[in-house]
Order: sequence, then C-alpha cells, then structure tokens
Amino acid sequence: MCGIVGYVGYRSVPELLLEGLHRLEYRGYDSAGIAVLGDRDIEIRKKAGRVNHLAELVRTKPVTGRVGIGHTRWATHGATTDQNSHPHVGGNGDVVIVHNGVIENYDVLRKQLTQLGYVFRSQTDTEVAAHLLSHHLEEQIRLGGEPGDVETCLKAVYATLDRLKGTYGLGILFRECPDTLIAARCGSPLVVGVGKDEYFLASDASPLVGYTKDVVYLSDHEIAVLQPGNLRIEHRSRGSVSPSVQTLEQVASDTDLGQYEHYMLKEIYEQPQTIENALRGRLDGEEATAVIGGLNLTAKELRRIDRIVLTACGTSWHSGLVGEYVLEEFARMPTEVEYASELRYRNPPMSDRTLVFAITQSGETADTLAAMRECKRKGHPTLAICNVVGSTIAREADGGIYLHAGPEIGVASTKAFTSQVTVLTLLALYLGRMRHMSYPAGKRIIGQLRDMPEKISKALECHAQVKDVAERYHHFNNFLYLGRLYNFPVALEGALKLKEISYIHAEGYPAAEMKHGPIALVDQQTPSVFVVPRGGIYPKVVSNMEEIRARRGPIIAIACEGDTDIARIADDVIYVPDVEEYLQPLVCAIPLQLLAYHIALHRGCNVDRPRNLAKSVTVE
Ligand code: AGP
Ligand code: GLU
Repeated sequence: MCGIVGYVGYRSVPELLLEGLHRLEYRGYDSAGIAVLGDRDIEIRKKAGRVNHLAELVRTKPVTGRVGIGHTRWATHGATTDQNSHPHVGGNGDVVIVHNGVIENYDVLRKQLTQLGYVFRSQTDTEVAAHLLSHHLEEQIRLGGEPGDVETCLKAVYATLDRLKGTYGLGILFRECPDTLIAARCGSPLVVGVGKDEYFLASDASPLVGYTKDVVYLSDHEIAVLQPGNLRIEHRSRGSVSPSVQTLEQVASDTDLGQYEHYMLKEIYEQPQTIENALRGRLDGEEATAVIGGLNLTAKELRRIDRIVLTACGTSWHSGLVGEYVLEEFARMPTEVEYASELRYRNPPMSDRTLVFAITQSGETADTLAAMRECKRKGHPTLAICNVVGSTIAREADGGIYLHAGPEIGVASTKAFTSQVTVLTLLALYLGRMRHMSYPAGKRIIGQLRDMPEKISKALECHAQVKDVAERYHHFNNFLYLGRLYNFPVALEGALKLKEISYIHAEGYPAAEMKHGPIALVDQQTPSVFVVPRGGIYPKVVSNMEEIRARRGPIIAIACEGDTDIARIADDVIYVPDVEEYLQPLVCAIPLQLLAYHIALHRGCNVDRPRNLAKSVTVE
C-alpha cells in the first residue's frame, strides 16, 4: 500500500507533489520520492523515511517542471532503503514509474529481463514493471512508433500490463513524451482530479482538497492519459470510456489538526459528533425503527434473508463482533463474522438467503475488497458499511451504509470503530423491527441511541483518570485485556490499540476463557485491563478478576460510574457512564483508546504513524 500523487498543468510541480505526499503519508511512510519531467530529462529525488526528509532533499537539490509523480511507500518487497524508494527507472531512463500494489510474477519477469540485459538497482517488484515498460517501449519504437508520441507510449503500457500479474496503481512518465502523465489501475485505487487546464492524480482524494472538487474515480483495467486540458480514459478491453465526473464533499479543515497534538486524540474527541453523524436522519421515532436508505433491497428481499456474514479486518472486524451480538439479539438473525483474508479463500456454504456486509473505514482494504468480490461473484447481495465516500468498496458494493465520520487520519482507528458499532446497532434495530421486535422495545432503543452522543461526551471526562493510570503502567511490557459478551470485542480492540501504537504485547480474551490458558501469563508484571461495566454477568466477571488478583496480577478496571465495590478488587478504576449492555462497547472503547494513546506518548512512540503500519492496507 502506498500513496501516489501526480500532476500535469501550469503549477510548479515539486511543491504540489510534496504537499500531496504529506497528505497521503498515512498510507505508508517507509520512504518518499518524486519524479519531475523537465525539458530534457526526468529528475528524481527519493529518500528512505518520512516526506519531511524528502522535502529537505528537494530543498537542497531543487527540481523544476510542470509534470510529475510522487510516492510514499509501505514496503512489500525490499527493505526500506533509498534505492528501493519509488519512483523507479526503467531501461536507460526513458520511463519512470510509481506503483502501489504487488507484482506477483515479479520473480519470473526479473529473470527474463535480467537475461535481456536489464540491470536492477533495487529489490522491489516495482522495478520489474519499470524495465518491462521500457522494453516494450523500445519494441514499439522498433516497429516504427515515435518515442515522443502518446500512441507509442500507450501501446507499450498495454503490452506491459498484459504481462503483469497482481495489483497495481501506476503513475508513469515518459522522458520523450512532454506534458503527459499516464496512469493505470488494477486493484489499487486511483482518482483523477479535474481542474482547468490541469489534472491531478492521487491514490485518494485528500491531495486534491483545496485544488479541485471534480474527480473521476478510475476503475480496474482503466488507463488514463493526463495532459494539460485533455483527459482520456480507456478500458483495457472495452476501449474509450467517457469520464464520469463526481463532486467531492470534503473540506480542507476536516484534515487539519486544530488544537490537538495528534490526529488520534483529535479523532477520539470527535466521537460525540461522529456518533451523532452516524445517527442523523436514521432514527424514526414514529415507527420505532431505524431508517436505512442505501441498502438497495426491498423490505420483501430483506425479510427473505436468513443469515448475515460480516467480513472485515482489524478494528473493523472487532466492530463486526459487536455487530454479531446485537444482530442476533435484536433481529434474531444468525450472524457470522469472518476475517476477510480467510473468507476470500475459504468456501463456506452460503445460501442465496445470505446477506454479506463488508465493514471498512477506508473502503480500500485489499483483503476486504477481495472477500466482497468473491461473495458477489457467488451471487450474494453484498453491502458495505464504509466511511470513505467514493472508495472502491463503497462503489463496488450493491448498497450500504456510510459512517459519515469524516476523514480518519490516525493509523489507529478510533472514531470509525464507534461509528461502525453505531451503524450495526441501527441495522439490528431495523432488521429486528421487520421481524420480532415489539414497538415499545424499538422505542426504548431509539431513546437510548439518541442519548449516546451525550454519554460519549461524559465518557471522555475519564481522560484525567486515564492519564494517571498511563503514568503508572507505561513501563509494563505485557498486558491482558479481558471482557465478556459485548465487552469481549472491546477487550480485543483495546489490546489492538495498545499493540499498534506503543509496541507493547497485549492480548484480548473473553474474561472467563483466560483460565483456560492465558492465566499462566499472570504475575506482578502483567497487568490485566478488565472491561467490567454493570450487566447480567457482572458478578461472573468480578470472579474472574478475583482469579487474577489471587495470582497477584495488577488490575485496571473500566467500570460504571458509582460502582465503588469494584475498587476493592481493582488496583485502579476508570469510570464510564452507565448505559445498556449493547451500548457498552461505545462508552468502554473511549478509555481504552485514551489509555493506548497516553502509554504510547510515555514510551516516546509516534502515535499517528506507528512503525511498520499504514492506514489502509491495499495489498493482500
Ligand atoms: C486499526 O487500528 C488498524 N490500523 C487496522 O486494523 C484497520 O482497522 C484494518 O486495517 C481495517 O481497515 P479498514 O477499516 O480501512 O478496512
Ligand atoms: N510493492 C511495491 C514496493 O514494495 C509497492 C508497495 C507500495 O504499494 O507502497 O515497493
């Protein structure tokens, strides 16, 4: 996965590319680079590390031009070195490319190209595509094509793509072809920004904000030729495509840090608002149900459904687990939650009454996309619960529900989780009211959901307590996170947050399951975070806490306000507002997000850009 940016037009390219790369850095930050097409040559600047390092290099060794491409990398093949940074040069420098994705047959191609005399300077799969393109360009020239002619370049691109297996979003410059940028997409997202006498290319719309609101999303197997004042799109087998221009809604301030030091903290604090956004216009007090407009299935079709499969990765998978509980409870709907990367290659029996939901913040996660396509191919109605409007999954799904949470920039997902849980609860209410749920029960749930933004604001008041706890616990190297029923997925999510941003080993478990193995880990150096708000099995969870205490494990409890008893067992207690059990994941997630945040700060970790990760994982 990575971020690609490109430009043709009248503006000075290096600044524009660097700004775009800064905005895309959340997609990968192992290295960054740009290539600018000048009068005679293509100049490249690239460097391992952050975009800031590249910006410094460009400041000391400037480049000029009005056509260019840039890349911020999340390495899949080859270490995070200067040489492996993109852009990559093909042949003797006649082509330069940036690539997002994985060329799966790179090994075979590399051997063939080496035999033909091509010299490899990197360990990446991408360089294979660069040399292959150069090889096909030479072939076209031998056949009589003009090196500076777009048609010659395009033919070389087609011939190259025919030989690539895997996924790619490509941005390509040809040394001899002035004022031209070619892009190609298969499996990795690309969007073209349409300006006046200028075009932008990017992996997602964020670099375009402030420049243009008109965008064209490329589909798989499309190739775009961008020249000042001219945009041409072709499908590899179907020929010319007339660009469908859509309007962006995002405004620049959505991606500003404002008063916050980190995006993660900003996004944690946005949750009262983002939950309100997820609920807006979707609560029907009269009918005591939810209003969900985008499913594109009639009430009759929905009543026929007898099973739901939720598929997702990471945090979105955790929200799916909450969804399973609430869908089964409210709608009596058999529900399963599948890791997308497993579902794609498994062959579970699914009848034509199975409805599939892909849950994804970004809408670009390769595993989730592939699982969704596989289910679609088998004929299941396939819907998305997604945040990013216009993302690949949002566009390919048969319908779905948007989160409306605004851009989530911090690599550790926070507000998307609570919005997903909110939307899944709405879905459960909607399907429940179509089936067995009574009018008064629906009414009650609506009232409780309406209160949630305020409850989340109250939950955020635990911040000072959490800071204290983080101060005392940040030096521990192993944590257990334990919860039961609705709070089991919360425990998993809390552990994932801590792992991701503070690099501390943490395991999430159903609290009672811990005695079947993980309790062997417990000692004075292994704190357990118990998610233990009041509820039907509260006394059972308290017993589980006693079991840990008996083994001298330090205990941090996330409990309901007013629960003073719990302080007798726990070493530290963080209080959250009392809500119905099915809503506890929303309030209990807040202290766990803040705890991970503050522990990471204490340990000097980069909260928004944790090592080895990237925001959207667009490779398998
Ligand atoms: C969450 O903190 C992670 N960074 C990660 O697990 C993420 O939730 C996962 O990659 C799925 O992303 P998506 O929701 O954009 O599909
Ligand atoms: N596979 C390429 C590499 O490792 C591209 C990775 C990316 O999408 O950033 O360099």
